[in-house]
Amino acid sequence: MKTDIPLLSSLLTLALLTGCDMGPKSGRGFVFPEGDLARGQKAFVDLKCYECHRVDGVAGLPAPTVAPGKVVLLGGEVPTLRTYGALVTAVIHPSQARTAGAPGLSGKDAVMPQFNETMTVAQMLDIVTFLHPRYRKLMPLREYHVLP
Ligand code: HEC
Repeated sequence: MKTDIPLLSSLLTLALLTGCDMGPKSGRGFVFPEGDLARGQKAFVDLKCYECHRVDGVAGLPAPTVAPGKVVLLGGEVPTLRTYGALVTAVIHPSQARTAGAPGLSGKDAVMPQFNETMTVAQMLDIVTFLHPRYRKLMPLREYHVLP
């Protein structure tokens, strides 16, 4: 019998990857209730997230209070789209989000503070529902080279 080595090794990698994913601390089984976009924008202001952030395509938020170079844009064109789970992680577990490396965000000297003692669960869900649609996938350059 002929053994398909590449297939076998990719299956093995898949098994390993999903294996890790199913550990006792995995996010599997976590289902987020949908938040409310308008309430999310309000919570974003109430919790003063705007002090360090602008949100792509959202006018009418108070201006950031940190130095212009420290303002972190949320949303806009990104090479990898943020999943809902990644945004929740960024909000309630920012140190983890930093090590997991949201591209382009590591190495900033300003650090996202903890809100877990003050933010309600409803506020968190509403904020993520507000932010999630602001992210757009950056078009890979090669797509511009395809001629009809
Ligand atoms: C004192 C400044 C500051 C405040 C206030 C702040 N953040 Fe942040 N935030 C940051 C910085 C800096 C980062 C970049 C990652 C890091 O260093 O933690 C970040 C990263 C993020 C990200 C990840 C962005 C991405 O594209 O992956 C999200 C989402 C976010 N913040 C949401 C919020 C929300 C919601 C609030 C209010 C509850 C808030 N932030 C308040 C500084 C701040």
